[in-house]
Amino acid sequence: MSKNSNRIAPAKGRLGVLLPGMGAVTSTFIAGLLLSRKGKGRLIGSLTQMQTIRLGKRYEHRTPLIKDFVPLAQPSDLVFGGWDLFPDDMYEAALKAKVLERWTIEPVRKELKSIRPMSAVWDPAYLRNLKATHVKKGRTKWDLAQKLIADIRGFQKRTRAARLVMLWCGSTEILPVPAPVHKSLAAFEKGLRESHSAIPPSMIYAYAALKLGIPYGNGAPNLSVDVPAMIELAENTGTPIMGKDFKTGQTLMKTTIAPMLKARMLALRGWYSTNILGNRDGEVLDDPGSFKTKEKSKMSVLDTILEPRLYPQLYGQYHHKVRIDYYPPRGDAKEGWDNIDITGWLDMPMQIKINFLCRDSILAAPIVLDLVLFLDLSKRAGLRGIQEWLSFYFKSPQCRADLEPEHDIFIQHLKLKNTLRLLMEEEVLDHSGLDYYDPKKGLPTPASAAKPLPMSPKSPTRRKPRPTIPH
Ligand SMILES: NC(=O)c1ccc[n+]([C@@H]2O[C@H](COP(=O)([O-])OP(=O)(O)OC[C@H]3O[C@@H](n4cnc5c(N)ncnc54)[C@H](O)[C@@H]3O)[C@@H](O)[C@H]2O)c1
Repeated sequence: MSKNSNRIAPAKGRLGVLLPGMGAVTSTFIAGLLLSRKGKGRLIGSLTQMQTIRLGKRYEHRTPLIKDFVPLAQPSDLVFGGWDLFPDDMYEAALKAKVLERWTIEPVRKELKSIRPMSAVWDPAYLRNLKATHVKKGRTKWDLAQKLIADIRGFQKRTRAARLVMLWCGSTEILPVPAPVHKSLAAFEKGLRESHSAIPPSMIYAYAALKLGIPYGNGAPNLSVDVPAMIELAENTGTPIMGKDFKTGQTLMKTTIAPMLKARMLALRGWYSTNILGNRDGEVLDDPGSFKTKEKSKMSVLDTILEPRLYPQLYGQYHHKVRIDYYPPRGDAKEGWDNIDITGWLDMPMQIKINFLCRDSILAAPIVLDLVLFLDLSKRAGLRGIQEWLSFYFKSPQCRADLEPEHDIFIQHLKLKNTLRLLMEEEVLDHSGLDYYDPKKGLPTPASAAKPLPMSPKSPTRRKPRPTIPH
């Protein structure tokens, strides 16, 4: 954690958001922000915009909005750019993605039309189901990285952005074969010069961003920054990184239900999950290579939450199956079914069924906004390397190699909010609450604490730091 927690640089000027991959998620995200600027849409699902954070004791009634508590960039300060394999502007991309109706985006047509992707770095070996038409040429992968760096500098100059953040919203790549080229920065840079086959496009984008000290998040299950070479580069350049794979539909459900089963010590016999979706993401995932990357990301969550090693009787032998079927008529309106077989007292069997008729990109867009704002905050707060406190947003949260990732959504949520409290020198909450009932603590009595404390609208939150007992 940063030592300069009380010296977070202010969020002055424009924040440039660079998005490799400008399809359904990206166009929904940008359209949403542009519409909200005109008062024509609410940013529902975004913690940074809608959620409050409790500070101090419960009777203090200090619950500012997160955006009023931490110094975040304003959504109105964001400017957008990115790359795609196809030249469609954001209006065309949004129409093709069919997440939002034409009439919904009409009020921001002009603005969306003005955002056009730069040509992409592409390698068909990592993405078999799309035939790109808008790609860069380069003699080596090193040359391609330099071209991306030039694109980034050009974008910053054009938009006069004071700071930048990059978030991968591109398709799911086939995982590269693990190779020594991923192990150190020196080997990676040599690999770029030699166009090593184990370097996929997403790593080239990540390299360009990190080289310039631009925070990088990864919304897909691609390895991208989750290799030692990229972590080394992030550390060297003082850059925050985080991934992988936005936690939206079925995994959001899984990481909510599984902690409940474990908290109640209910046994799991099997969890069958299936999805139908018909967007471009579904088309890409129809390729077995890309599906394998996604499956790996979706499968890992149950074991880490249920800890079969500690509870072999309850979770030692459950059957877990995940399917994704490409079904074009459904478009972005994904449907997920979960059948969960559990047992309780005396091994009596029970079942839970979930039918989630979700909209993938509608759930992903607020995650993009929060990650952009929090990654920018991390950089200004002097945090570098893996930002595990942002695990809340990911299916496969990146963490130190010797640690298990945290998948339980409730722990992830606590981790996120406690990190914000720490950054702002507020007390970390452990929720034990014994001191409320301990007369020796000298806390206010129910009668004296009945009235909410007044909060100054200018600084509703600042107090002297108090000792914390993290758990
Ligand atoms: N929609 C969700 O809720 C959700 C949830 C979790 C993860 N994701 C992941 O987010 C990513 C984006 O999802 P989407 O629904 O927007 O998909 P999409 O197919 O609509 O958009 C992805 C875009 O990335 C582009 N692309 C692919 N490779 C590229 C490259 N090398 N450089 C530049 N552009 C490239 C494609 O042309 C496409 O337009 C996918 O990897 C998906 O798996 C999405």
